[in-house]
Amino acid sequence: MNISLKKLADDHINLRYILIILTRQLEKCQHARDMIKSRQFIQAALNYLCEYPQQFHHPVEEQLIQYLISRDGSILVIGDEVGIQHRELEHSTSTLRLQFTQLTAQTDSQDFNTLKDQLLELINQQHQHLESEEKYFFPLIEKLMKKQDWLDFNEHYNQAYSSCAMDEKRGEFASSILYLAKHAKSA
Ligand SMILES: [Fe+2]
Ligand SMILES: [Fe+2]
Repeated sequence: MNISLKKLADDHINLRYILIILTRQLEKCQHARDMIKSRQFIQAALNYLCEYPQQFHHPVEEQLIQYLISRDGSILVIGDEVGIQHRELEHSTSTLRLQFTQLTAQTDSQDFNTLKDQLLELINQQHQHLESEEKYFFPLIEKLMKKQDWLDFNEHYNQAYSSCAMDEKRGEFASSILYLAKHAKSA
């Protein structure tokens, strides 16, 4: 597997891990005050799910799609579908993150339950997106991208993974995973 495709696959492992520990945490919350107690943890997980894909993962996937379309127009349909799902997930994740910041210990139980259900549904959609890419998109990339294509792509297009300027930011996200892992049991 090419190193850039491996990075995309590693991103999926990290995203899945965060989705799993966030689910566990949400399921433990029966009232708004429970979520407030775990606010820092849930906020960190939502920040990661919101920002890492937008800043790193989605741009690389979409640049790859554009790169492949420029060589073979027949994959346009898959490309469109992935892009549409990205915009929807980005929108629903940032909307729910904002709603979560507005939660207080006084939030009534109906609003709390609605928010919790919406968060769990979002997690479900995120899982489905990762799964469909692993099933259809990644194998297609692996099949179509030859060694020379990767060299060309990484040199001219792939700024998010190959630029040193982005390394520091990636480091911050790595720290955020460590924080979440450390607090996953106690949160
Ligand atoms: Fe994606
Ligand atoms: Fe992905």
